[in-house]
Amino acid sequence: MSGDDQRDYDGFALLGLDRSGQAEAFDAIGDRYDEAFPHKEGQLAAGEWLAGALPPGSRVLDVGCGTGLPTARQLVDAGHEVVGVDLSPGMLDLARANVPDAAFHLADLADLRDGHLGVFDGATAFFSLLMLPRPEIPHALRMLHGLLRPGGLLALSMVEADVDDYAIPFLGSTIRVSGYLRDELRQVVRDAGFDIAGESSRAYAPASTDVPPEIQLFLDLRRA
Ligand SMILES: C[S@@+](CC[C@H](N)C(=O)[O-])C[C@H]1O[C@@H](n2cnc3c(N)ncnc32)[C@H](O)[C@@H]1O
Repeated sequence: MSGDDQRDYDGFALLGLDRSGQAEAFDAIGDRYDEAFPHKEGQLAAGEWLAGALPPGSRVLDVGCGTGLPTARQLVDAGHEVVGVDLSPGMLDLARANVPDAAFHLADLADLRDGHLGVFDGATAFFSLLMLPRPEIPHALRMLHGLLRPGGLLALSMVEADVDDYAIPFLGSTIRVSGYLRDELRQVVRDAGFDIAGESSRAYAPASTDVPPEIQLFLDLRRA
């Protein structure tokens, strides 16, 4: 633990967390994830904002990087130094093959709280914080705030839903997801110390019938 209270979980009970099944689900899903979500215009636009708003050569953390597509690839192509983290060894194998120029680490995002990966100019968390129980999400956001340099940027996406640790069928597996309605999400990110520089939402119908339609929220955030 760093002692910097921006980087810890403020006493949040990590020991009681149940991550069981989450990594295994994504190991089993593999590149079917990209097949089920083929249209990533919202994510690409959010990545473009981040890539363009940061000076060339910035250090960017990709939290829950999945297959590395499209985001780690997009950020590397824009000239940034990308560090991806994911809980799923299978997703990381794909990411390493898809984006050999990025560095990838097998880790629970909560384990970043000790700052061992250093500080970052920017970060992305595309559809990864929604895999945490809702009470943990503000702690994860405060931790990311602490991992960013002052003025650092975070591109965040979530699915709009008023649910907490809710089990859903997902590409042949079961995953547990959490979410907020957009007003509450705005409040949660502000409370974690971010200013909202931009926002968009998209209705999304995945290509697979095994994933329900969703409203995706994208927030462009700046460390206040
Ligand atoms: C819905 S996918 C999104 C992947 C990628 N960010 C994208 O948008 O294409 C969520 C990813 O978060 C990872 N993940 C889930 N819980 C995590 C945790 N506690 N720490 C790190 N990664 C996690 C999963 O393994 C999965 O690859």
